[in-house]
Amino acid sequence: MKFFVDTADVAEIRDLADAGLLDGVTTNPSLIAKSGRAFKEVIAEICKIVEGPVSAEVTALDFAGMIREGNDLRKIAKNVTVKVPLTIDGLKACKALRAEGAMVNVTLCFSANQALLAAKAGASFISPFVGRLDDIHLEGMELISEIRQIYDNYGFDTEILVASVRTANHIKQAALIGADVVTAPPAVLKGLAKHPLTDKGIESFLADWKKTGQSIL
Ligand code: E4P
Repeated sequence: MKFFVDTADVAEIRDLADAGLLDGVTTNPSLIAKSGRAFKEVIAEICKIVEGPVSAEVTALDFAGMIREGNDLRKIAKNVTVKVPLTIDGLKACKALRAEGAMVNVTLCFSANQALLAAKAGASFISPFVGRLDDIHLEGMELISEIRQIYDNYGFDTEILVASVRTANHIKQAALIGADVVTAPPAVLKGLAKHPLTDKGIESFLADWKKTGQSIL
């Protein structure tokens, strides 16, 4: 399973990339606003740090506008993935941009039927938002299982990019289902390394090591 980080915070991206944990990055207009930086400038910087796909989202709602913005964003770097919303115009833009060789991430997916449409439009990635479904008391992970089954039934190669990830459990469930990618905030990705028994083990090993009076260097 590939790991993308869901942030526009360049320091966090660098930190995770240094740990060899990053296969890509997703951003959205809210994350860009949170960074307080100029959109294209921050995307260019991220694309230099991470070789994999870096999603940059269009803000136009009509087909022609999405194509214009998508083509402009693609000029920033080869690994820019144009992110379009799951609307009919978004699907049209997806099809057209894919025909021109762009990577496209279709975002804001909340149903299996929407995911089916994105695959038919040739999306490189479909982004189902599990956390936002959980927020309204639906089972976000159930949607991932449904999409996996549908894509496998028909051999669609659109990658399932599990988004709106809030917990380590979301990531484990996504891996068990066989999702292709998860995108999660930096803290959630870093949290995967944590276990109280790991901390306890380090503590007791170091206490015993101290008793030996030795040092490695
Ligand atoms: C995905 O690409 C989105 O940027 C993101 O995962 C949304 O997450 P949120 O629901 O926590 O805002």
